[in-house]
Amino acid sequence: MDKPIAKTSGKAAISINIGIGEKDRAAIAQGLSRLLADNYTLYLTTHNFHWNVTGPMFNTLHQMFMLQYTELWAAVDPVAERIRALGHAAPGSYAQFSQLASVPDAPASPPKALEMVRILVQGHEAVARTARELFPLADKANDQPTADLLTQRLTVHEQTAWMLRSLLEE
Ligand SMILES: [Fe+2]
Repeated sequence: MDKPIAKTSGKAAISINIGIGEKDRAAIAQGLSRLLADNYTLYLTTHNFHWNVTGPMFNTLHQMFMLQYTELWAAVDPVAERIRALGHAAPGSYAQFSQLASVPDAPASPPKALEMVRILVQGHEAVARTARELFPLADKANDQPTADLLTQRLTVHEQTAWMLRSLLEE
């Protein structure tokens, strides 16, 4: 027998029956879209700082930022694909990201090295807050894959914020 067809934005799609209601899937996808936008924005800022850092800490920070932007780049894919698995479209344009992100765009001209570190600490803290804000909803909706993804991202962002923060302390 044919599966029932649900219409989403003009396209015929097979209906989703994974045990998470439509409303919860939409709300979780919206929260994950904000996380994706924050993650992507912080990725780009970190790569920008890898290119533009100067000063006596050049080598350390150039290398450290490379490890961080590589991790952030790899992290956007599972977030976007979780949005798809919940039945929604993943945002993927600068216009959408600038609308959704709580992390500000990188400054137009490169700041000094320690100011870059300060900006990245604030960025990782902001992404952690976005992920944490979504957790109760994922938990309530019994959405274990999203809760697991959020837990993994919280671990990375809070650890990276600590490492960067340590560079600013005596
Ligand atoms: Fe490079």
